[in-house]
Amino acid sequence: MTSPTDCIVFKDAAIKRGDRLIWQHGSFAIPTGSVTAIVGTNGTGKTTMMKAELGLLPLACGSLTVLGKPAGEMNRRIGYVPQSYVANVDSNLTAEQSVLLGLTGTRFGIHLVSKAERAKALEAMEFTGIADKARYRLSELSGGLRQRVAIAQALVSDPKLLMLDEPLANLDLASQRATVHVLARLNKELGMTIQVVAHDLNMLLPVLTGAVYLLDGHPHYADMRQVLDSDLLTHLYGTQVQVVTTPQGDMFVTPTADEPADQPHDMHTIEEVARMHRHAR
Ligand SMILES: Nc1ncnc2c1ncn2[C@@H]1O[C@H](COP(=O)(O)OP(=O)(O)OP(=O)(O)O)[C@@H](O)[C@H]1O
Ligand SMILES: [Mg+2]
Repeated sequence: MTSPTDCIVFKDAAIKRGDRLIWQHGSFAIPTGSVTAIVGTNGTGKTTMMKAELGLLPLACGSLTVLGKPAGEMNRRIGYVPQSYVANVDSNLTAEQSVLLGLTGTRFGIHLVSKAERAKALEAMEFTGIADKARYRLSELSGGLRQRVAIAQALVSDPKLLMLDEPLANLDLASQRATVHVLARLNKELGMTIQVVAHDLNMLLPVLTGAVYLLDGHPHYADMRQVLDSDLLTHLYGTQVQVVTTPQGDMFVTPTADEPADQPHDMHTIEEVARMHRHAR
């Protein structure tokens, strides 16, 4: 059932790249105001999913609506930080110039920046804690600071939905924490719906409300309680994973101690795997 409170709705969606089916039977809804992870091993189609949500890749079948319209139509209300953006970005720009691109990037020709636009960029940089770096060139900033510039650029146009593809990759622990803190504030204070591709859920656990997991060529959505299941995660990652609840109630996804090299990666029976697949229709 589609509800007006849903931000992203997949209905029997499938996607191909070239001739290859990447995933299919995607039927789920991501609620407005949620913070959702997209999880799955390398090459399962997480980036592909974000591109489909932006209307950059067509579906092979089914439908996909984002912010109430077919994918692609509401992109002005979406902030997107692509995978490896931080490494690939043009490093001659200053932090401020690069954040301003989030406001002016879609316009052609020479563009004079208005006072209001500059104020907006400053506000976004203050939010991500880099206002004092406004005049630095990106080449002078560390990866963690560039990541904050990228997030500031994505949020400067007041998006309703913020999508980040592996924003924590290559960041040290403190920078990962800082990024998660920014995401938490955007969600709580500004009510942004957030979607983030991540391989390690631990850091995001305090803010996540749910996850889309790509399992055996099918995307599924589940709230965090369902996702944090050792059997499911072990199957999902193709390696032993344990969920531990500490006395404080925190849950951690941890690898189990040394896995023998000759151990088959996935030890689930077909019946168990079938039980894990709950195809909501
Ligand atoms: N431009 C392309 N043309 C054809 N196939 C592609 C293209 N880009 C990616 N693919 C294929 O689509 C599949 C999904 O790729 P995608 O980048 O979405 O994976 P991912 O889950 O984001 O992986 P990673 O964790 O490595 O970022 C992969 O098998 C990949 O080889
Ligand atoms: Mg990817």
